[in-house]
Amino acid sequence: MTESIRQSYQRSIEQPEEFWGEAAGAIDWHKPPTQVLDQGNPPFTRWFADGELNICHNALDHHVDEGNGDRVALIYDSPVTQTSTQYSYLELRNEVSKIAGVLVGQGVECGDRVVIYMPMIPQAVMAMLACARIGAIHSVVFGGFAARELATRIDDARPKVIMSASCGIEGSRVIAYKPLLDEAISLASHKPLGSIVLQREQCPASLQPGFDHDWEALAATSTAAQCLPVPSTHPLYILYTSGTTGQPKGVVHDTGGYAVALKWSMKAIYNCDPGDVFWAASDVGWVVGHSYIAYAPLLKGCTTLLYEGKPVGTPDAGAFWRVIQQHQVSTLFTAPTAIRAIRKEDPDAKLLGDQTKSLRALFLAGERCDPDTLAWAQEMLSVPVIDHWWQTETGWAICANCLGIEQLPVISGSPTLAVPGYQVQILNAEAEVQEANTLGALVCKLPLPPGTFTTLWQNDDGFVESYFTRFPGYYETGDAGYINEEGYVFVMARTDDIINVAGHRLSTGAIEEALSAHPDVAECAVIGIADKLKGQLPLGMLVLKSGVERGKEEICAEAIQGVRDHVGPVAAFKLCTIVDRLPKTRSGKILRATMRAIADGEDYKAPATIDDPEILAEITADLATMGYPSGV
Ligand code: COA
Ligand code: AMP
Repeated sequence: MTESIRQSYQRSIEQPEEFWGEAAGAIDWHKPPTQVLDQGNPPFTRWFADGELNICHNALDHHVDEGNGDRVALIYDSPVTQTSTQYSYLELRNEVSKIAGVLVGQGVECGDRVVIYMPMIPQAVMAMLACARIGAIHSVVFGGFAARELATRIDDARPKVIMSASCGIEGSRVIAYKPLLDEAISLASHKPLGSIVLQREQCPASLQPGFDHDWEALAATSTAAQCLPVPSTHPLYILYTSGTTGQPKGVVHDTGGYAVALKWSMKAIYNCDPGDVFWAASDVGWVVGHSYIAYAPLLKGCTTLLYEGKPVGTPDAGAFWRVIQQHQVSTLFTAPTAIRAIRKEDPDAKLLGDQTKSLRALFLAGERCDPDTLAWAQEMLSVPVIDHWWQTETGWAICANCLGIEQLPVISGSPTLAVPGYQVQILNAEAEVQEANTLGALVCKLPLPPGTFTTLWQNDDGFVESYFTRFPGYYETGDAGYINEEGYVFVMARTDDIINVAGHRLSTGAIEEALSAHPDVAECAVIGIADKLKGQLPLGMLVLKSGVERGKEEICAEAIQGVRDHVGPVAAFKLCTIVDRLPKTRSGKILRATMRAIADGEDYKAPATIDDPEILAEITADLATMGYPSGV
């Protein structure tokens, strides 16, 4: 008899060793683990600690060895270069082995770090798998970050080499990556031994002899490298994500727990089997790209689809539907923003036609899914539309409607139930568990399931301090919400200063640091305000130093450019205003929530402790000149 989702969940919590031990049976271990769960040093949970494996072997060689080398492993669809190619498991294994050989040739050894700064091309996935093949720890940096952000990550990860490409293509624009890479290396204190650059014909880069190496030239003469078994707890990758300060956090995922959880999730959550075409329309620079473009579909023997394009404009709002039909995609995973962008251009889905017949489900994540977007997608696609909640730290879904176990009714606004392994609860400020329907901090009781982060890179103290100190015995997600009587979880807002712009997680602190660097700015605050397309947009409020006489527009334009240079275009920072003072409580705390409420047109009550209530009226007037509240 098949298990219901509630039975499966119960077993995962009451008998985690049995539950995950069984899931670990799907992995081809070099040395099978004898111990499933080690909780000897909480919160540093270790999964399958004495097991040894290679995740690249499990993602590629294993399928070739099983006789499935001809199956398509990766489809590359790039409307921006008019390309559509594919690699079988055998071809991908051979390419990855060559690139792994290139890394070995450059002196990269097990445990060394490799930063990957690449656009959405197959070589980005190959680079990740090549690192994993030889036990090197990859750290992929999203292409939309500025050189300074890349430099910060280089200094923290201290890579031996950097893998990059000469350019990325954003819609119709070619973005040269090499100058950004050069600038980042010159800004960083840590100097890598060299770079490996894939030349793209759209914008070849000039290479500095002795430091920059041509990717293709090295690959042509490299010796294929074999898979190196590593301990289950060996770090697979570091992925930097926004924290509350400008300093990003280096989230570390292990190898064994990650492989087990991801492979399990492909069936349990996404209901995918080997041979299915799985498309995560994200970017390899984000956690979704790591887990569901690079690793999970390949572990499962599915075909993963890598798309270099946008939901709209490449060439139009029918792009997603065209890709689904052309490649017979069974499961699409994207952010609600992408669906909102398509809907905005093609509200009646005239470009859809019958192109999505192969589609069995649409999964959404990265930001809260608004009920309108959910309803539209359900109506247009006539397949289950599943909102699921997760984070860079968890690496896979905390809450979801597990289609491969039991499909539950969708409740708009909720990512459904906690996934097996996650003990999701709501706590108040005193760490007391809250009753149903009471808003509070969303936490997960320890231990976290396999696949979730094991520490912050070389910062165990920061790991404990940021996530496990406020509520001892729990992982603090940083999100707030509530759980209803049936266990449906509702994720409502962040409890910190992180904002979510087009499904991208950004730190207001990082943007504030960039604004404060402007010579005329005395003080500033950044808040996330509601936006119809991107969910939230950052709004900067600047207080100028006394005596500054220059034009406000000029200063705002410089401040906007400053954020682009410091943080990157991904911040989508375009709204900036100059105010006389920032509203603060008498103890000096900036009233961000109140300012956000004004901008979003919500009711708000000025706190009694505010030092000067008139400031709020000034801010309201300033926002009105920019078209806020927008009525979202
Ligand atoms: N390299 C360089 N620049 C990049 C980049 C990259 N990899 N990715 C984004 N940018 C740039 C964009 O070109 C844009 O620059 P601009 O201000 O000069 O126009 C800026 O960063 C902001 O990007 P974005 O927020 O993506 O806006 P957009 O207007 O280009 O596209 C959407 C809007 C809705 C189509 C897009 O945000 C989208 O597809 N969102 C889905 C998000 C997603 O998949 N998230 C992953 C979590 S599942
Ligand atoms: P990231 O680490 O970039 O994946 O961002 C994680 C954050 O995005 C979460 O902490 C949430 O704030 C938000 N998020 C992701 N998925 C959802 C979802 N399905 N519903 C609500 N918020 C989400």
